[in-house]
Amino acid sequence: MENKRVNEVKEMLQKDLVETDDLKVLDDLRVKYLGKKGLITELNSEIKNVPNEEKKEFGMLVNELRNTFNEYFDKTKEIIDTKILNERLEKEAIDISLPATKIELGAPNILEKVIEEVEEVFMSMGYDVVDGPEIEEDKYNFEMLNIPKGHPARDAQDTFYIEGDEILLRSQTSPVQVRTMLKGEGKIPIRMICPGKTYRRDDDDASHSHQFMQIEGLLVDKDISLSDLKGTMDVLFKRLFGKDVETRFRPSYYQFTEPSVEVDITCVNCHGKGCPVCKHTGWVTVVGAGVVHPNVLRMSGYDPDVWSGFAFGFGAERLAMMKYDINDIRTFYNADLRETCIFDREDEE
Ligand code: DAH
Repeated sequence: MENKRVNEVKEMLQKDLVETDDLKVLDDLRVKYLGKKGLITELNSEIKNVPNEEKKEFGMLVNELRNTFNEYFDKTKEIIDTKILNERLEKEAIDISLPATKIELGAPNILEKVIEEVEEVFMSMGYDVVDGPEIEEDKYNFEMLNIPKGHPARDAQDTFYIEGDEILLRSQTSPVQVRTMLKGEGKIPIRMICPGKTYRRDDDDASHSHQFMQIEGLLVDKDISLSDLKGTMDVLFKRLFGKDVETRFRPSYYQFTEPSVEVDITCVNCHGKGCPVCKHTGWVTVVGAGVVHPNVLRMSGYDPDVWSGFAFGFGAERLAMMKYDINDIRTFYNADLRETCIFDREDEE
């Protein structure tokens, strides 16, 4: 009697278990057969009423039905899940042929670029690039550079004093020489350059700016002479402006170097032939430099009988003006980026 019921359910099952991609249909079937009042569930609870000798067979048949259903259910569920996933992927697919939103890029500033080029040249020769404060003490900006209070050389660098006559806006990057030597605590060699802002009470015009970028350099080691400086300047300017650029020294005067020189390079505008840029001399002065004064070494803890060095300083705007054919230093400090930034025109389109 009970086996008959099992067969009825089996037949029904064979008809019901059709292919479907509808989750609802699948779930209704699950309720119909395995739900609380499902057909297979009911058969299962019938077992207790089956006479003992038939129990085993009945149980096996019911189990078979359950396995058949579960197999069908798992397989169909997997097919439906895959279908749902594929539909979602298709819907969410990114169309890579769509034009992207344009990202506005900055453009390199030519002054920054020149400074970076100078840094690269010196780093390739083993120099460190260091930093120093723009608000500086009189002691570092002047005194320890061999320029005592009241010395007439201070007039040449009309200085912005901030507090009394001790705290100022540095008028040159040379104080970083002193700071570097003091920090070096006698360690050798010292090879550093320091690019940074400097300030002077100048009236702004085509060639003066009350704030400008200076690059300072210092090397301290054994047996350093002017010829080392000459070689270094040659490397720098050939790398910046091309192999045919030459350098020459002219005697000069700075309190922190002895001897002191001005470094000229052949005019990049006329290649030394003479033009208005070089006032028809073929040369332009670009650097102040010299052999570090013994007093400066001594004050910063280096014995001048043992150590020697060279130092130099130059304005970065000057180089950028030559390189990019700009004839007014104020160009760097107005808000018009068209002249001071390198825009990659192709990129803009
Ligand atoms: N600081 C000097 C200036 O502003 C430039 C200079 C000259 C720097 C000679 C040096 C140097 O280190 O040795 O005019």
